[in-house]
Amino acid sequence: MSTEYFLPFIFSTGSSSFLSFQLLLCLLLFVSVFSFILAPGGLAWALYKTRVRTHIRTAIPGPSGLPVLGLVLVFTVSSTHRVLAKMAQSLKAKPLMAFSVGFTRFMISSEPDTAKEILNSSAFADRPIKESAYELLFHRAMGFAPFGEYWRNLRRISATHLFSPKRITHFGKFRENIGSKMVEEIKGLVERDDGVVKVRKMLHFGSLNNVMMSVFGKSYEFGIDGGCELESLVSEGYDSLGIFNWSDHFPVLSWMDLQGVRKRCRILVDKVNIFVSQIIEEHRLKRSRNVNKVDDEGDFVDVLLQLEEDNKITDSDMIAVLWEMIFRGTDTVAILLEWILARMVLHPDIQAKAQTEIDSVVGTTRSVSDSDLPNLPYLLAIIKETLRMHPPGPLLSWARLAIHDTHIGHHFVPAGTVAMVNMWSITHDEGVWPQPNEFKPERFVDEDVAIMGSDLRLAPFGSGRRACPGKAMGLATVQLWLAQLLQSFKWVPCDAAAAGVVDLSECLKLSLEMKNSLVCKAVPRVSAA
Ligand code: HEM
Repeated sequence: MSTEYFLPFIFSTGSSSFLSFQLLLCLLLFVSVFSFILAPGGLAWALYKTRVRTHIRTAIPGPSGLPVLGLVLVFTVSSTHRVLAKMAQSLKAKPLMAFSVGFTRFMISSEPDTAKEILNSSAFADRPIKESAYELLFHRAMGFAPFGEYWRNLRRISATHLFSPKRITHFGKFRENIGSKMVEEIKGLVERDDGVVKVRKMLHFGSLNNVMMSVFGKSYEFGIDGGCELESLVSEGYDSLGIFNWSDHFPVLSWMDLQGVRKRCRILVDKVNIFVSQIIEEHRLKRSRNVNKVDDEGDFVDVLLQLEEDNKITDSDMIAVLWEMIFRGTDTVAILLEWILARMVLHPDIQAKAQTEIDSVVGTTRSVSDSDLPNLPYLLAIIKETLRMHPPGPLLSWARLAIHDTHIGHHFVPAGTVAMVNMWSITHDEGVWPQPNEFKPERFVDEDVAIMGSDLRLAPFGSGRRACPGKAMGLATVQLWLAQLLQSFKWVPCDAAAAGVVDLSECLKLSLEMKNSLVCKAVPRVSAA
């Protein structure tokens, strides 16, 4: 309505009409602010639409959230993936849902086809960089490096030298040794502590050692020397990156560092610099003596040092890359194995079936090794079913960023939009998986579902150009250690009366962890050599 219709009416009748003018203005302001804020997707989307009016008709559906804050509170709870899944369902926005977190524009897909379109599109080959990732140097490492020549180079190097099938095979014996060390450690607990195992601690240390060997060519004894220091650096990094940082979405807050994230990261990065630089220097010294070639025996530091000689990578880049490998490779494997063991305690029948398979393939007189794994399909089915029910990255961990304006289906997506995939929602969708809340490994025996990224019904390692480069190594490690742990022990609850009860509460940090870490009992089965 034009103001010329009501202005004469208001000013013509003295002070009471002036009051009603103020009221009317307030009302108008109120309605326009709210219709703006309550636009589909909330504030950040509304701000964009005011600039580009032509795309309103193809708006992505989504909740407006709280005024200005948007869905901030959803990201401060430990079950963000569940809340977002429910919202997408109730708004009939499973293929694509828009929302805002402060001034950041988000969209999320909870449906396989659209998820595939996003993850495989070159438009989404970048990642949004959080302040903590930046402070922890990750913008110079693979995971957060901007899409471009530097990132492509790192992917190529790691695919050739760290994660190639030859390298993965080469480190098989070492994985087996760590698995055996864990078995020995648990046998000690059987004698000392009636077999009560704090599962996370044990797996974390094994996993850290595994990555340390392939990256730094170093291993540590359980609970002794520098391993503990590195373990605490990794845990601190995980916590810092997992914190929801308000500054990432409200730029005005960033200089204040209200949550102390920046300060924490800077302290940590100083320690990491000292730790990793020392290892690099040791390698330099070794190389200067004689080992001046990169081959399959060398570790990742050797590979990077070789590149340094060709001036392709600086010292601080090297620290960032090495630190990220340790950091990314450690927790994911430990967290997945903890979920699997929790499921084994909860489903003794499934555990027994896996043990029967291992016994029939490997026997009881020798220890399981890498070469047995292709003959253990039920074991793999258990891993796949756990990845389905408890994907370590339910929101595929690290989101993607639209590099340029693009379309997903008929929806226009502006450059700078953060895109996420709710893998947890897809793997718990009745329309995708029958009886999604039942733990049934058999479904993967009946149907061979690819889990490396080609089938978005279950893509725990992501898909497309930024898919997890460590997936084959991670999976090989989980398969082998699970086989070793199941071959040697029967896993039962600490309290026999609690049979059939395991606390499966979740907590979403950087990965989806068990809220209360698993403590259970290991009962020796066979003594494989
Ligand atoms: C169970 C084990 C693992 C799971 C579930 C997992 C999951 C993931 C996921 C979901 C992503 C994001 C993918 C995407 O955006 O499409 C990712 C990226 C990544 N992962 Fe893994 N991961 C695992 C093991 C590992 C290991 C062992 C390493 C290295 C030692 C590793 C290194 C990385 C790196 C460097 C990236 C970033 C890649 C890029 O942006 O180019 N991951 N991982």
